[in-house]
Amino acid sequence: MAILPTISTSFIIISAILVAIGWYHIIKGNREKHQKVMLWGAGFALAFFLVYASRTVFVGNTSFGGPEELKLAYHLFLFFHITLATTAAVFGIVTLTLAFKQKFAKHRKIGRWTAVIWLLTAPTGVAVYVLLYLLYPGGETKPMIDAIFGL
Ligand code: HEM
Repeated sequence: MAILPTISTSFIIISAILVAIGWYHIIKGNREKHQKVMLWGAGFALAFFLVYASRTVFVGNTSFGGPEELKLAYHLFLFFHITLATTAAVFGIVTLTLAFKQKFAKHRKIGRWTAVIWLLTAPTGVAVYVLLYLLYPGGETKPMIDAIFGL
């Protein structure tokens, strides 16, 4: 059942759109809107993570169901996406912490990286979703480690 991945992927897309809008607001000098929209963006990122993590725990992860010759490329791409997403999460926490401590010079510097990495994470996440559920029939759903390493 691909309903949970569809919901979590939608949350990634919404979050990335909000981060782009939040960036636009601070460039325009609107701090209040920036703060509000970025917090919503972070909220949707957290919602994505909660849906993803609970599915992993309760259902498992789905392995690639496409042709054998694409499996290696898919897994390399999946690693790339997971690395981006993890980096974005760590940077996101640092960026928010700096904002709330009012260390805005550092926040501005790191915030740019956070926004760029998250804006790259979202389309790679959508690509994984398309490869896993739309382009090919999803493979077996099994525990996370097996699915990631293609066992
Ligand atoms: C994860 C969420 C956030 C991200 C990704 C983010 C990202 C950014 C970026 C990219 C900039 C610099 C824009 C530029 O110069 O191109 C910036 C500036 C700023 N952000 Fe955030 N932001 C976030 C959350 C917040 C929050 C919650 C607050 C308020 C508490 C805040 C307050 C500010 C302020 C005041 C500036 C301007 C700093 C200055 O003029 O030196 N941000 N942010």
